[in-house]
Amino acid sequence: MLIAGNWKMYKGPAEAAEFCVELRRRLADLEGVDVAVCPPFTSLAVAVQVLAGTDIAVAAQNVHWDEEGAYTGEVSASMLRELGAYGAIVGHSERRQLFGETDEGVGKRARAALESGLSVIACVGETEAEREAGETEDVLRRQISVLEAEDNLVVAYEPVWAIGTGKTATPEIAQEAHAFIKSLLDVPVLYGGSVKPENAAELLGQPDVDGALVGGASLDVESFAAICLAGTR
Ligand code: PGA
Repeated sequence: MLIAGNWKMYKGPAEAAEFCVELRRRLADLEGVDVAVCPPFTSLAVAVQVLAGTDIAVAAQNVHWDEEGAYTGEVSASMLRELGAYGAIVGHSERRQLFGETDEGVGKRARAALESGLSVIACVGETEAEREAGETEDVLRRQISVLEAEDNLVVAYEPVWAIGTGKTATPEIAQEAHAFIKSLLDVPVLYGGSVKPENAAELLGQPDVDGALVGGASLDVESFAAICLAGTR
């Protein structure tokens, strides 16, 4: 069971430090759940520092496929490793929709990160229009096709219509999509999309839901800690 908090473009270093001090305190006795926070690049270092000596991991929100080079605005896997990050998210729907990332690029990012020893959370998920058109499985098949099963890879199923909308997939919808993804790729699958303390236990209770990637509700330490606790049941 993995609960990861995707902070998106929230929390600079000062706020990140404050959050991590409090998370560390609240989760001191947590067992049976792996926890990760994914701050913006500029807050990674302080998160690594504050969470040193705990089981709470720190991951980036993206990573480039090359080791170094003329790629303005990008960060490589070795840079993240040097910083002490354990992994990175790749292919978040906001990267795909707002920044033009493609399946091919997502595959390259995932492969390079895994090869360099980072863990990867690779995001997939259909839009509302794709679901309504009955294309969910085709979309998932296409997005998964660029990934290969590896020990340090997990997939996050994040239906785009459920992200930041308050519209959570029902546990049944999530379960069905997760089972389908696992039939294509044998890796753990996290659910993401409006996960909150109130719906976490039911979603995490589905047989093929192996954790959660939490956006909005991961920004508040109380609600994020409550979701982590829901993962112990
Ligand atoms: P949300 O975001 O929990 O705010 O819906 C999830 C995500 O984008 O990873």
